Amino acid sequence: MNFQLSEEQIAVRDAARNFAKTELLPGVIERDEHQKFPKEQIIKLAELGFLGMMVSPEYGGSGMDTVSYVLAMEEISKIDASVSVCMSVNNSLVCWGLETFGTEEQKRKYLTPLAQGMKDGVLYTGAFCLSEPEAGSDATSQRTTAIDNGDHYILNGTKNWITNGNSCSVYLVIAQTDVSKGSRGINAFIVDKNLKGVVVGGKENKLGIRGSDTHSIMFQDVIVPKENRIGADGFGFTFAMKTLAGGRIGIASQALGIGSGAYELALAYSKERKAFGKEIMHHQAIQFKLADMATEIEAARLLCMKAAWEKDQHLDYTLSGSIAKVFASEMAMRTTIEAVQVHGGYGYVKEYHVERLMRDAKITQIYEGTSEVQRIVISRAVLK
Ligand code: CAA
Repeated sequence: MNFQLSEEQIAVRDAARNFAKTELLPGVIERDEHQKFPKEQIIKLAELGFLGMMVSPEYGGSGMDTVSYVLAMEEISKIDASVSVCMSVNNSLVCWGLETFGTEEQKRKYLTPLAQGMKDGVLYTGAFCLSEPEAGSDATSQRTTAIDNGDHYILNGTKNWITNGNSCSVYLVIAQTDVSKGSRGINAFIVDKNLKGVVVGGKENKLGIRGSDTHSIMFQDVIVPKENRIGADGFGFTFAMKTLAGGRIGIASQALGIGSGAYELALAYSKERKAFGKEIMHHQAIQFKLADMATEIEAARLLCMKAAWEKDQHLDYTLSGSIAKVFASEMAMRTTIEAVQVHGGYGYVKEYHVERLMRDAKITQIYEGTSEVQRIVISRAVLK
C-alpha cells in the first residue's frame, strides 16, 4: 500500500490551492451575499483544464486521474463551494457519462467543448437533469416523458434543482420513454439549451452555495433528435446510477474541502485569539475540538482517496463512493459547526468565512443522493 502522491498529483493540488487563494478568495463573501454566479472564475477554471480533468486529451480533456480530481476538488471547495459544484457536475456527471457511454459523434460534438469548458470563446458547460418536483430520492418515478416520434423524441416535463441550470449550454436529461417498463423504460438525452421549448425557471434562493446557478428547467414539446439518446433504448436509469456513483466521489471531495477549509480557519484563529490570559489553542476545550476535526478530516480524505483509487483501477467504486459521500458530508457538517463554535461571536459573522462554510456544508448531505439514499446503497451492498 502506498499513500504517497505522485509529482503530477502534487502539482495539480498546488495549482488548485493557488488558484483558490488568488482567484476565488477575493470576492467570495460578496458572491455569496448577492448570489452572484462566478462566471469569470469558472472561465479561468476552464483555462486551467479543470472542467474536463479526467477526459482523454483526444476529446479536449486533461487526461488526469480521479485522485488528482479529488485533490483539486478539495482545494477549490476549501474556498468556494459554489465554484466546485459547477466543476463537479461538469466533470463527473456530464463529461464522464458522455465519454463512457456516448457515441463517437456525440463525443466530438458535445464532449470536446464541455471538457474544454469553452466553445467559440464562450463558456460551455453541462447540467444533469434527473430530479423532478415529485422524483428526488425516488429517482425511478420520472414524470418527464420523451415520446418516440420517428427520427426524434418529443420531450415534456419539469426538472428541479438543476446545478448550472442557466449558465450551461447542454443538459443531460433523464426521461421516461415507456412507463410500462419501469426503470428499464427510461432514457437519457443530450439536449441543447437553445432548442425551442426549453424554458429556464428563476434562480433558487438557497441557504448555501448561493453563487451556484440552481434553476428548474421546463421542457415543452422539445424536439430531440434520435442521435442524441445516450446508449441503447432503456439504458437511461442505469446511465444515471452509474454516473451518480462517480458524482458522489466529487461531492464527497467537496464536503472534504468544506470541512478542511473550516478546520484550517479554526486552527489559525485558535493561535491568535486570547481568552483567560492565553491563546485559546492552549485550552483543552479547543484542543479536543481541533483533534476531533483533524481525525474526521483524515478519515474522510482516506475514504475519498480509496474511492478515487478504485475508480482509477477500473474496480467497482459504487460502495466506496457512497461510503465516502455519507461520511465526508456528515463530517463537513459537524466540523463547520465546531469551527463556528471555536470562533465564538466572530464565527457568526460573514467576514470570518466559517458561517458560509457551515451553510455550504448542508447541501452535501442532500444532493447527488441524500445521506439516507447513500445508506440504502451501502446497506444493500453489505446485506447482499
Ligand atoms: N449501477 C448500475 N445499475 C444500477 C445501479 C448502479 N449503481 N443502481 C441501480 N441500478 C439499476 C438496478 O440494477 C435496477 O436495474 P434492473 O431493473 O435491470 O434490475 C435499476 O437500476 C433500478 O434500481 P433499484 O431497483 O435499485 O431502484 P430503486 O427505485 O430501489 O432506487 C436508489 C435506488 C438508490 C434509491 C436510486 O433511486 C437513487 O440513487 N436515488 C437518488 C437519486 C439521486 O442521487 N439524485 C441526485 C440528483 S442529481 C444532482 O443532485 C445533481 C446536481 O445538480 C448536484
